[in-house]
Amino acid sequence: PPLVFSGVQPTGNLHLGNYLGAIRRWVALQEANRCLFCVVDLHAITVWQEPDSLERSIREVAAAFIASGIDTTAHVLFNQSRVPEHAELAWIFNCVARLGWMERMTQFKEKAGRDRERASLGLFAYPSLMAADILAYRATMVPVGEDQKQHIELTRDIAAKFNHDYSLRVAALGLGRPIAMGEEVVQGYFPLAEPLIEGPATRVMSLKDGAKKMSKSDPSDLSRINLTDDPETIARKIRKAKTDPDALPTEIDGLKGRPEADNLVGIFAALADRSKAEVLAEYGGRPFSEFKPALADLAVEKLGPIAGEMRRIMADPAEIDRTLRDGAERAREIASATLSDVKRIVGLLNN
Ligand code: TYM
Repeated sequence: PPLVFSGVQPTGNLHLGNYLGAIRRWVALQEANRCLFCVVDLHAITVWQEPDSLERSIREVAAAFIASGIDTTAHVLFNQSRVPEHAELAWIFNCVARLGWMERMTQFKEKAGRDRERASLGLFAYPSLMAADILAYRATMVPVGEDQKQHIELTRDIAAKFNHDYSLRVAALGLGRPIAMGEEVVQGYFPLAEPLIEGPATRVMSLKDGAKKMSKSDPSDLSRINLTDDPETIARKIRKAKTDPDALPTEIDGLKGRPEADNLVGIFAALADRSKAEVLAEYGGRPFSEFKPALADLAVEKLGPIAGEMRRIMADPAEIDRTLRDGAERAREIASATLSDVKRIVGLLNN
């Protein structure tokens, strides 16, 4: 059966974008698939993290997954660094990926900023580690927000180049399987992962600027709704969200050129499990002074219980650690089998 893999960085301030663009959709995917969900702590340290807050953030992201409805018994929840095969495979992928591929990554360009000389080498190699996360399990379904699309395309490029470079060896060892490459089916070792980017909230924007993505690192806390915000804070942030002066349009097309309106309607739709068109059928023609309170009520209704559950789970860090340890053990069974194949394929004596 196809495997689902996805991850979140423990870098503080889990927000509505992470929830609607990723975590909430994972919950739905659990029904029909085998899933692995990962707190990607090794990715977090590509930029400086205070050790104490990193520990707390790892547990907090795990708590958010569980509070949102991730089933840690039927599926696998773990933190990345506990499965050393991720870093090991990433090294091999560093030798498969090309410098030019990495240089094109928009997330690196954004995060490194103007002073590239001072960015960590890890930040540059970030996508190799992400490819390793996914391919250590040969996962093919990767549910993420829009901003991760380029990284998953790079994962495909790495898989395709590995398959190509080692095709003879893979065949000689009898480790090949049919891999769909567009219309063609070829023999290869790694499958090509598909980014699953679906629904009305794959790119949740800042509440203060409809041209900017909602992000953990925005200095203004008013720009985002954090999963840990209390009801009053959620309502206040929505009240203060930037909008234009017009009433909501009745048709989807009317959202064009109105990024703030589009964003709030998308958030409403995702929280309510409806389409934007359905939301506009109800609220079209009404002013923001009516829509915003409805959105605030909905957000509090959906997010309030998650925050409460997160607090309850965070009160017992030892239990979180047990869950992560147990998940890592199960993840490792799959990842270590992949690594032993990969070492044979590459010719790293490992007998
Ligand atoms: P991260 O930690 O930045 O974000 C976690 C997930 O949240 C999504 N997301 C958003 N979705 C909609 N609107 C937004 N404003 C928004 N902001 C964030 C992200 O797309 C992501 O799905 N590199 C990844 C973590 C990662 C990973 C992986 C993901 C590491 N290895 C393997 C999938 C598979 C990241 O930095 O996500």
